Amino acid sequence: MSTFAPSERAKAAGASVEVDISGLVPGEMKTVEWRGKPVWILKRTPDMMASLKDTKNDNELADPHSERNKDELTPEYARNEFRSIKPTILVAVGICSHLGCSPGTKFQPGPQPSLPNDWEGGFLCPCHGSTFDLAGRVYKNKPAPDNLQVPRHMFVGDGKIVIGKDEKGEA
Ligand code: FES
Repeated sequence: MSTFAPSERAKAAGASVEVDISGLVPGEMKTVEWRGKPVWILKRTPDMMASLKDTKNDNELADPHSERNKDELTPEYARNEFRSIKPTILVAVGICSHLGCSPGTKFQPGPQPSLPNDWEGGFLCPCHGSTFDLAGRVYKNKPAPDNLQVPRHMFVGDGKIVIGKDEKGEA
C-alpha cells in the first residue's frame, strides 16, 4: 500500500484554498476550511462598514489598530480600519483567541442577550463571552486577548479569493 497521498499531505501542510465569492450578497458570510480551520468570508453591507469607522467603538476595542502580533494576525494589507484588502470583504479565521472556540455571528445591531445595548454587530464567542467587531477586533475586558487572525489571502479577478497565499507566496 502506498503511503504517499499528495492531496492529503498538501491539505495538512496548508495548501491554499480558492473560493468563488461571486454569489455572496451584502450581509452574507461563507465559511470554508483551510488547514483544518474555519475561515470566514463576510461581504459587509454599507452599515457594517460604517460601524467600523465609529471611533467611539475604537475606545472599546483592545487592539483597534491591529498592532499586537501583527505578523501572525494581521498581514500588512489588512492593517487598516477594515482589516481587509477591500472594505467590503472580511476574511478571518473563525477561532477565538482565548481557548479556540468558534464565535457565532451576531450581525444584528442593538440590545440582545449577552451583548451590550450599543452593540453594532459582530461576533460572540459562546464559550466565555468574548466579543469581536465586524473586522474581527476583540473588545476590551474580555477573556480573548487578541483580534481574530486575518490569514494571508489575495483576490484573483473579481469573483475569487485565495486563502493561504498572497503576493509573497504561500502562508
Ligand atoms: S474560547 Fe472564546 S471566550 Fe473563551
